[in-house]
Amino acid sequence: MYATGGRSCCSSRSLASFKTSHDTGGARIRSLPPRGHIVRANASLGNGSSPADLVADLVDGKAQSGPDLSVTHFSGLKLPNPFIIGSGPPGTNYQVMKKAFDEGWGAVIAKTVSLDSSKVINVTPRYARMKASDKKEVIGWENIELISDRPLEVMLEEFKRLKKEYPDRILIASIMEEYNKAAWEELIARCEDTGVDAFEINFSCPHGMPERRMGMAMGQDCELLEEVCGWINAKASVPVWAKMTPNITDITTPARTALTAGCEGVAAINTITSVMGINLDTLRPEPSVEGYSTPGGYSSKAVKPIALAKVMSIARMIESDFDGAKDVSAIGGVETGRDAAEFILLGANSVQVCTGVMLHGYPLVKQLCGGLQEFMKQHGFSSIEEFRGASLPYFTTHHELVRMQREAVAAKKRARTGLSGDDKWSGDGFVREAESMVAN
Ligand SMILES: Cc1cc2nc3c(=O)[nH]c(=O)nc-3n(C[C@H](O)[C@H](O)[C@H](O)COP(=O)(O)O)c2cc1C
Repeated sequence: MYATGGRSCCSSRSLASFKTSHDTGGARIRSLPPRGHIVRANASLGNGSSPADLVADLVDGKAQSGPDLSVTHFSGLKLPNPFIIGSGPPGTNYQVMKKAFDEGWGAVIAKTVSLDSSKVINVTPRYARMKASDKKEVIGWENIELISDRPLEVMLEEFKRLKKEYPDRILIASIMEEYNKAAWEELIARCEDTGVDAFEINFSCPHGMPERRMGMAMGQDCELLEEVCGWINAKASVPVWAKMTPNITDITTPARTALTAGCEGVAAINTITSVMGINLDTLRPEPSVEGYSTPGGYSSKAVKPIALAKVMSIARMIESDFDGAKDVSAIGGVETGRDAAEFILLGANSVQVCTGVMLHGYPLVKQLCGGLQEFMKQHGFSSIEEFRGASLPYFTTHHELVRMQREAVAAKKRARTGLSGDDKWSGDGFVREAESMVAN
């Protein structure tokens, strides 16, 4: 059964619940190979097979064979596999969320809701794509979509129905509100009444909502963030993740603020502020609505390197400031099990997918699980926890890279130094001189 550990009590509650999951075997970064030890894939399995072709057999999200994909977050959230539907169109209503559970997604984060959907007015077109040079493969995706424009009452009814039909699966409500304590408290209470397992707080939508001081506007302002996270964590009795914006100089600063204010984890990244392009015939920006546009949010494959860097910084901060014991749910450009492996190697506990589902559909989860299992088999990993965070120690400063390279070159030179001619052998250093020319 996959369920949530929940939280215990108010202000000291988050620490208490962290301790509980931590002490009762909550995930911990395993002991790592020493610096310089490079783990290599088994060559016979590593080459030739395409991870995208490997499809896992999932029942209620659980892989029926192969390495164990189940994950336990520090917050107590247990998932049959680490793949979560990221907040957006793939979690926008009952039908699509049901489809996600049926196909085997480890958890679903619904499209962000707020108290008054009548203030949310979308436009069309609201998406624009960036294609690779073959003009077919989509590598970047811009959206100017707002949060859910469906009435809250309808969304809450659907959450309730899903929790009734899938009581053992994890449903996470993504929420956003204005700078108003009572509004946050009402939204949290009404969502919790439906039985949702956790909250993801949208402090990161880059367009539309910041005009009302919501979304990214809150996530970029640490004073505001601290206060609002305080309200949220005093009210919520289920785990809370803060979803962070990459549109900030140092993402670890607001992430630390949210975690210090009691959030059990962070999700990163939301979309990157973008302008998809200018139509060179009309000279108007895209996506064009009545000839005008507004900067939107960029996602899909092209953002993965940026997301990896942000997740790496957050995971290192969590290691140093929180003893590694907070959740990181990674998101940005994931389309294969191997993409997910990279995020997990940087410390992510789970991996979300949004645009990838819009491009490939809900059955993608079977390929994601199959590809991740294949990666695990290649390295002999039997659980996610065995390799989570394993690549994190191999980041350092550029200054250190220069020092290490200089030392390595000097060591190679020393190793190569033999006697330059037979006339150089001495009686006293004979054995050492012989040793300096031995290869093994
Ligand atoms: C069309 C669209 C709508 C989105 N809506 C939301 C939203 O309502 N709430 C939210 O937190 N993130 C939203 N996102 C952001 C995604 O959840 C995700 O953080 C981002 O797209 C990067 O992940 P991806 O490359 O897997 O899409 C949306 C993304 C897209 C593409």
